[in-house]
Amino acid sequence: MRVLALLDGTLADPEAPLMRADDLSVTRGDGIFETILVVAREPRELGPHLDRLERSAALLDLPAPPREVWERATRAVIDAWPWDAEREMALKLVCSRGVDGGDGTPTGFATGSSVGADTLRKRQDGVSAVTLDRGIASDLKERAPWLLLSAKTLSYATNMAALREAERRGADEVIFTATDGSVLEGPTSAVVIARGRTLRTPPPSTGILPGTTQGALFRAAEKAGWETRVEPFDQAELRTADGVWMTSSVRLITPVNALDGVPLAVDPELTRELTGRYESLY
Ligand SMILES: Cc1ncc(COP(=O)(O)O)c(C=O)c1O
Repeated sequence: MRVLALLDGTLADPEAPLMRADDLSVTRGDGIFETILVVAREPRELGPHLDRLERSAALLDLPAPPREVWERATRAVIDAWPWDAEREMALKLVCSRGVDGGDGTPTGFATGSSVGADTLRKRQDGVSAVTLDRGIASDLKERAPWLLLSAKTLSYATNMAALREAERRGADEVIFTATDGSVLEGPTSAVVIARGRTLRTPPPSTGILPGTTQGALFRAAEKAGWETRVEPFDQAELRTADGVWMTSSVRLITPVNALDGVPLAVDPELTRELTGRYESLY
């Protein structure tokens, strides 16, 4: 991390300790976050990210600060970033429930970090993925809203554990499946498939995060005459699709080259077209 801004818009030393040891994000992962790509000072999909932050806060009954506060902190981080040296930045907005036993005032801050070499490599070369069972039914979100399935909470330990499992299996990434075998999402990305001129992604009703990058890609593709569908599909479709991508704010539109150790159809031209359409929005 290179830049840290507090919610009042002031900068703080990114290398100095910030959180209290009894902050509920530290002790319980009780909070929410967003990660936003900023290119040449312009945050991408800021509106949809702030919308999602608000929805996550509502699901957690978290009295998160209003939008203008996040916009001010975002501006402070962008203004402090060394744009001449680095054209891209990963901006993170974090909000926790505050200190244990406190007055309920949330803790919040914004950080700016470099986009890592590994991320840039994956954008370029694509990834290999494994399917992993998330152990949830695709109607669980509706039956058990307290599980916060579509909130972007700070509790990402299981997502990170799944990525370590992928690594143990010799792969870069994970595509989670529901107990009925339908496709869900990755630990930090949405899943998009193409067949002909149609793009598909699973619906948020299955308990996944609605992806801002997937949303932007669909918007751009529709303008160019693609059909887009947000609907459930079975994992078998990953094998027969014309292309499979993992989409996320910082990794962008990453092609999946292999699934569970078996190569997938990869069409670099298709990836170039979709990436070009997405980039044309900015
Ligand atoms: C679980 C999960 N699903 C999907 C996404 C993709 O969302 P976005 O495109 O808004 O980054 C993310 C992003 O981090 C994520 O963590």
